[in-house]
Order: sequence, then C-alpha cells, then structure tokens
Amino acid sequence: MAESMKGLKRTARCAELTEGDIGKRVTLMGWVAKCRNKGGIVFVDLRDRTGIIQIVTESEGADPRWGSLKTESTIAVTGIVEKRGGAFNPNLRTGTIEVIPDSLRVLSEALTPPFPVQDGIDTREDLRLKYRYLDLRRPELQHRIMLRSKIVELVRSFLSGEGFLDIETPDLIGSTPEGARDYLVPSRVHPGAFYALPQSPQLFKQLLMCSGFDRYYQIARCFRDEDLRADRQPEFTQIDMELSFVDQEDVLDVNTRLLGYVLKNLAPAYEALEFPKELAAGVAAAAKEIEENGISRMTWQDAMDRYGSDKPDLRFGMEITDVTETVRNCGFGVFTGAIADGGMVRGLNAKGMADLPRKKIDKLTEVAKTYGAKGLAYIAVKEDGSFKSSFSKFMTEDEMAALVAAMDGEKGDLLLFAADSFKVVCASLGALRLAIGKEKGLIDPNAFRFVWITDFPLLEWSDEENRFMAMHHPFTMPNEEDWDRIDSDPGSVRAEAYDIVLNGCELGGGSIRIHRNNIQEKMLEVLGFTPERANEQFGFLLTAFKYGVPPHAGLAYGLDRMAMLLSGSESIRDVIAFPKVKDASDLMIDAPSAVDPKQLEELSIEVRLPEK
Ligand code: AMO
Ligand code: AMP
Repeated sequence: MAESMKGLKRTARCAELTEGDIGKRVTLMGWVAKCRNKGGIVFVDLRDRTGIIQIVTESEGADPRWGSLKTESTIAVTGIVEKRGGAFNPNLRTGTIEVIPDSLRVLSEALTPPFPVQDGIDTREDLRLKYRYLDLRRPELQHRIMLRSKIVELVRSFLSGEGFLDIETPDLIGSTPEGARDYLVPSRVHPGAFYALPQSPQLFKQLLMCSGFDRYYQIARCFRDEDLRADRQPEFTQIDMELSFVDQEDVLDVNTRLLGYVLKNLAPAYEALEFPKELAAGVAAAAKEIEENGISRMTWQDAMDRYGSDKPDLRFGMEITDVTETVRNCGFGVFTGAIADGGMVRGLNAKGMADLPRKKIDKLTEVAKTYGAKGLAYIAVKEDGSFKSSFSKFMTEDEMAALVAAMDGEKGDLLLFAADSFKVVCASLGALRLAIGKEKGLIDPNAFRFVWITDFPLLEWSDEENRFMAMHHPFTMPNEEDWDRIDSDPGSVRAEAYDIVLNGCELGGGSIRIHRNNIQEKMLEVLGFTPERANEQFGFLLTAFKYGVPPHAGLAYGLDRMAMLLSGSESIRDVIAFPKVKDASDLMIDAPSAVDPKQLEELSIEVRLPEK
C-alpha cells in the first residue's frame, strides 16, 4: 500500500521551517517519529535530517490513516504552517509552529523497528550495527556524521586555497612502509601474486612530489590489519598531504593555520547540529587560542619526561617528577636496584588523595603493572604530617623527608613511585596519570588542547625483531646534528618528525623526507634492509629519487579521530557511517564471509583452515 510521490515536490525540510513561514503552504517528506491519537486529534512528529516538525490534524475522519501511522514509515504531507495551537515545545527548534495538513501520502509503511530510533537508547551496539541504517537515523549520529562532513568541507576549502591539489592514488598496490600488517588482494591475472591495500598513500605522495605537483592532498582511505581499539579501525580515512621545497616550520605553520581555520569555521555548526553549548564554546575557545598564539610545541623527550607519553593530555597538570638522584643511595632496594640496572625512579603527586583506600591503591598498582611495572611504591602524607608508606621501613626519616620534599609533597598528598627502565617508568606513570586524572575529574571534557610533538627518535629498538625499526617510517629525515652518531649510538639520533596531539590522542603525524641518496641508503642499511630487499619493496621510489627529487615533507591526520574528538565522542565508530567491530567484521553486511569456490578457483587459491 505504498503510494507514489508522483506530482508532489518537497518544498522544505522539516526543521527548516520557522515562524516566518506561518501561513505558507508546504510539502514535507520524512519519517514518522511519533504518532499520537488523542481522541480524534492526531499529533504526528515528522522527522528528516534537519529535525522534527509537528503535524496536527483533526481530520482522522476524512483520512483514517492519520490515526494509525506506523513509526518509521515515510510519508508526504501537504499543509499550512501555523502558530502552535497548544503549548510551545522549548526543546524543539520548531516548537512554536505546526503544520495543519490537507493531504497525506504514505510512501512506505515500516515494520516495527528492532529498537527505538531515538537518542539516548541503551540498545546493544551490535544490534545497532546490524541495523546501522536505522541507527544512523538517530539525531545524535546524524549530527556527528554531518559535523564530519563539515570538517571535510573546511579542510578542502582551506587546502585548495593554499594551493594544494587533490590527487587520487591507487588502492591496489604493494606493501607500504607504515609497519602494520597488510590487507592482501589476490590477483586473478597473476596467479599466486597479491596486491596490498595501502596503509597510507605514503610512497605515491612522495612520487607526486618527484613529478612536480608541489602541494598535494587527499582524503584517503587507508587499510591496516591491526588490533582494533576505540580510536582504531581496519579501514580509516586520512587527511593526507605532502609539500615540496619546505622545511619543518613551513609544514607546522600551514597545519597550525589549517587547524585554526577548521575550528573557527566549525564552531557555528555546533548550534545548528544541536551539540552541547559547552562543547561549542570549547571549540570556539581553541580556535581563538590557535589564532592568537598558534599551537605550542614540546619535544618528544620533554613529553615523555613530564607526561610519560608522546601524546600527552594537556588538559590537566600532574606532571612526573624524576627523583632518581634523591633516592640513589637510599635504603630501599627496589629503588637502588632499578637505578643500578640503568633505570630510574620517578613519581607522581596525586594532590589531596592521601586518603585513597588501600583497595584503590591496589587498583592503581594493577594499572601500572599492565604497563610492565613490577609494583607501585607510595607515600601518603597524612594531615598530621606523618607518612603512611609501603616502603618507609627501608628508609631513614631523612631519606623519606628528602623524597617527599623532592615531590613537593604536602599534607594530604599521595605520592606514587615507579622504579624501572625509562620505557616502563614512562608507560606506567603516564597511564596512572591518566587514570587518576579521570578518576578525580581533573579532565575538562570540553577543553581542546593541541600540542606539536617534535624531535622524535629516528629509531626504536624492537625486542621482538632484535633490531632497530623506523619510529615513523624509513623515509624520515634524521636530524643532521645527530647523524654522525648513526653507527656509534643509533638510538640517540633524533628525526625530523612531528605529531599533532589533541587531548591525549595522536591526531596526525608526519616528517621531513630523506631526499639524499647517501642518507637513504645508510638508513635502509641501519634498518636491516639488504639492497635487494629495499629494491624489491620500494625500488621505484629510490629510482625516482635519482631523476631529480625536490626536498619534501608531509603529514597525515586521522580524519576519524579528528571527527571523534571534535564531536565529543569516545569512539571513532560514532563518526563512521559503517564501522567494523572489534574482530574487524561488519555486522550489517556480514563481512568477511566465505566465497564461492568458483571464485577461489579463478584466483588459484586453496583455503586451508587452521586446526582448532
Ligand atoms: P601514521 O601512520 O602516523 O602516518 O598515520 C597518520 C594518522 O592516521 C591515523 N591512524 C588511524 N586512525 C584510525 N584507525 C587506524 N587504524 C589508524 N592508524 C593511523 C592517526 C595517525 O596519526 N604516511 C604517514 C604520514 C606521513 O608521514 O605523512 C602515516 O600514515 O590519527
Ligand atoms: P616489596 O618490598 O616487594 O613488598 O615492595 C614494597 C613496595 O614497593 C610495594 O608497594 C611494591 O608495590 C613496591 N614496588 C615493587 N617493585 C617496584 C618498582 N619496580 N617500582 C616501584 N615500586 C615497586
């Protein structure tokens, strides 16, 4: 009994109507969000992507379908906009008006949906994802997806204004150097051979620089077969860019202005999209801060020392203090032992948390342990000035007093210490800092704190591989000042690499690229590439560099992460129309799935499942 819309033309979207339209005859089309029959008078909430308008009719007698419209059916209504007869609804943008219809068409009648299409429902995410098209009808998801679209629009307009060219690069390629596992695509034409999907357009954008395009950008799909997290999907989107004849200052400058532009011009969208006022105010404040003061910078070393992380959350303080020298000769073997092993002792001052019950301290210890710490030593400074501590019996009074003083410990403070290698101390205290910040409500959810992290190490030791790996990728330029230590102390060489961090999340990263053959060859040697393997994997790039290469640099943002943070969401699934779940499957289309044996045959592939 679905009707055609022939002869009808939609004249407005539901919530675009205002009091200025009173008296006008309009045709609206949308979904029945609600239908209430109050003894002959029928109230219908009609919804489209702009919001809801109320339709009121007393003509149930004339068209009995009015009283029994099924929610989520699509209808077309023609009628006159009027001032509301009943009470105004302050929660609705159209709360002072309504439409008195004179005709109704039911375009499609809906089945009862598996969950209510409303904000604030507590339906399980897997059910929502199975019916994602219904889930996406909910205003909060619509608004996040629209905000994402606005971000893309602003990015494009800024970058094209700055002379960046939008150029696509292929998806069926070979392995790229980002270091995650590849998604492979078998070739039918070349039995036994595979394409790899790009982990990023890295090599192609460098080649575009070799071709002379000078400034490139792309909203690029990337594929990485990694374990998923709240801020990670197997396929995601980068705002990817590359520039020629530039240095680090140029890249940071244009990107600082990009972020300032996006935030400033996004701020007005928040009200229309019904985001909380506080979030809009936070974004506007961040835009102003960037416009006036730019984005602050911190070296990687500084970030690790002070926050235990290369993506520090600067929305609150509670910095790490190094007390290695204070405890070097103390009586506590855990501390002196770690120092003797080349490690260090560092601490956090959890202000005013001296009364934290034992159970909670044990919980914090568990957090530290998941990051490799062997334990967590603590001192609670009581109100009477005495100490409650897990290790005071090993220390003299003077040693305790010196340690508390080094931590700026005052009455009521809880001091937490980790003794271990730099890596473990940073990871565990960094995680504790965040856990305590969250627990104590120190983090303003509406604040946006950007920071550039610079001077990353070039290399990272991998215990698993027993060799150095590129911290960013093998084409990242080493810091010239450090380059002469590449053989004697490779771990100490810094890179011309940078990340942009927002609220403790790595929003983007990039680097100056190596454009000099001698440095590139040495770099590949340090990374353990034989000339043959290097040639096999990116010979085309190395060859291209022999035909005149401009010095170049670039950066890529995770668009999903940007949209997540700017919409105040906690998961990138909230800003991706059709996301995958933890095991990388799509619950709606039921992918991945087995394929027809004939397809496998064409691809010369035989499947051998692992034994259970
Ligand atoms: P990188 O690997 O740091 O750099 O990636 C850039 C940004 O992409 C986002 N990102 C992800 N987002 C969602 N899910 C994922 N699985 C995922 N992985 C990465 C992050 C990250 O900061 N080619 C280089 C860039 C360059 O050097 O120009 C690159 O891809 O926000
Ligand atoms: P123990 O003498 O082993 O009971 O340790 C005394 C205290 O030191 C306990 O609170 C432990 O959690 C803590 N501790 C043990 N190892 C470390 C470490 N590597 N760093 C910090 N604290 C530790």
